[in-house]
Amino acid sequence: MSSTLSPWLRVVLVGFMGSGKSRVGRELGRLLDWAFVDVDREVERLAGRTIPEIFRMEGEDAFRSLEGEVTRALLEREQIVLATGGGWPTAAPGRMEGLPPGSFSVWLRVSPEEAIRRIRTGRGRARPLLEVEDPLGEARRLLALREPVYSRAHLTVEVGKVPPRSLALEIRERLMDRGSPMEPRREG
Ligand code: S3P
Repeated sequence: MSSTLSPWLRVVLVGFMGSGKSRVGRELGRLLDWAFVDVDREVERLAGRTIPEIFRMEGEDAFRSLEGEVTRALLEREQIVLATGGGWPTAAPGRMEGLPPGSFSVWLRVSPEEAIRRIRTGRGRARPLLEVEDPLGEARRLLALREPVYSRAHLTVEVGKVPPRSLALEIRERLMDRGSPMEPRREG
């Protein structure tokens, strides 16, 4: 299926740490033949530091401001799949509502238990916000704050134990389904 059939200009993946935004985004980029950019990696590339280093040396506010700038610039691109950082949608008001026209937003929904399991077992990167005594409790707390905002995405996909490629196929199908990018984006 050609990506030129899609009425959308870009896909914006949102969701908690460990929801698989990077892996699903990479698969989806391949399927659509669009670019894929992981915002966290782009922040690290531009800062010349890892995210834990930025948190440690400059603090969370500095990270959020860099994350905001990098995401804003990437959202100007077309034919791109973006994996945003888990805290981006809630780090400033109105981010989901303010996505540029033509942006199809997708929430990869994961339970706090599954997110912590994946972060622990993955070869993945450190998550400074979860380096606390009770990571599961903190994940639950953050998710409760963030879910109302994540849920404003056009599409919610339950991650569960579904492989990234299947999730990407599901998203592609829905992306091709939708009408004009100008249609009302959400209920309530
Ligand atoms: C964060 C999520 C991380 C990264 C940073 C903060 C958050 O990205 O941006 O550690 O606030 O949830 P991932 O969602 O890609 O892990």
